[in-house]
Amino acid sequence: MTQSRYFTIGEYPEGLPERSLFQLETCELPELEEGEVRIRNHWLSVDPYMRGRMSGVKTYVEPFELNKPMEGGALGEIIESRHQQLKKGDRVVHMGGWRDVAQLDGDQVQPLPDIDVPPQAFLGVLGMPGMTAWSGLELVAELKSSDTVLISAASGAVGSLAAQLAHQKGCKVIGSAGSQEKREWLEAHGITAIDHHQSADEIKKALKKAAPQGVDVYYENVGGPMLEAALDVMNDFGRIAVCGMISRYNESTPSAGPANIAAVLIKRLRMQGFIVHEWVQGHEQAFYEQVGPLVANGSIEYRETVEEGLERTPDAFFALFEGSNQGKMLVKLD
Ligand SMILES: NC(=O)c1ccc[n+]([C@@H]2O[C@H](COP(=O)([O-])OP(=O)(O)OC[C@H]3O[C@@H](n4cnc5c(N)ncnc54)[C@H](OP(=O)(O)O)[C@@H]3O)[C@@H](O)[C@H]2O)c1
Repeated sequence: MTQSRYFTIGEYPEGLPERSLFQLETCELPELEEGEVRIRNHWLSVDPYMRGRMSGVKTYVEPFELNKPMEGGALGEIIESRHQQLKKGDRVVHMGGWRDVAQLDGDQVQPLPDIDVPPQAFLGVLGMPGMTAWSGLELVAELKSSDTVLISAASGAVGSLAAQLAHQKGCKVIGSAGSQEKREWLEAHGITAIDHHQSADEIKKALKKAAPQGVDVYYENVGGPMLEAALDVMNDFGRIAVCGMISRYNESTPSAGPANIAAVLIKRLRMQGFIVHEWVQGHEQAFYEQVGPLVANGSIEYRETVEEGLERTPDAFFALFEGSNQGKMLVKLD
């Protein structure tokens, strides 16, 4: 018999969850059914969207089921298979995260693409966050080399790739980040960095200084005062790709929207939300062909913040809201 240790939540929290919300449970896994695989996870991904799944309401994805294993991106090695195309030893990415051993329908797992990078890159820069950065810029914002681009949470998993891709395309890029160390990293990559821990008015001043010619594309990851400041500096017919609004995910009561939302009308802006899976469908190959070699040859730099051990998964999740992650936040298992 193989055991699986997994996290559950027993209620849907309001505001920032307490650490005690997350319970580590153990179960015996049943025998494999035809078509199933058993996977020993080596890496788990924690991502901001998971907070939405803890709210008990369906957004673009179902909420986590109470007292059932939580889910999330993970990378592991098949230890047993009853699937025709998958064999013991294959390394795969899948959604059976927040646990050490996953048992899934083999059709729900993906073998790793053949790109020479450390495997955990397929949870970050060459995984879902990477595809989000690339599709948001290329497909949603339709980025041009002449654009001035603003990216919030620019040193995170999504933002750090978006910022580098835009810079390599020839764009002028401004990125916001919450710590001096993160801003220095951005500046070292040719990106003008601003601090988002300021009032909307102060952010506006910093943006006007950084982009006196205005902003054509805003890659939105955080919402709140950053969005209000961005609306102020957008050029006519600018595009806003709304990827995320992390500043709002732990709010127990919704805050008012940007006071200057009329800028969308006055400046004839296109503001479009997007979910990576819908946009990247049919474009995965283009993503791997364009971004894969840049990551493999080091032209794109990516960073990881790693917590060790399954028990630390909730702590890794909290780091996303404290801003203590640099680049992709991961959990490493044995
Ligand atoms: N639409 C999609 O399909 C899709 C897919 C993936 C991700 N996303 C979204 O993309 C965004 C980035 O995700 P990620 O995985 O790359 O996370 P991440 O940027 O690696 O980590 C989150 C970062 O957000 C910043 N942050 C946290 N709370 C904040 C606040 N109240 N105000 C401003 N900044 C705050 C922190 O950086 P600082 O130190 O700079 O504060 C933190 O490090 C999130 O909004 C996420 O929901 C969307």
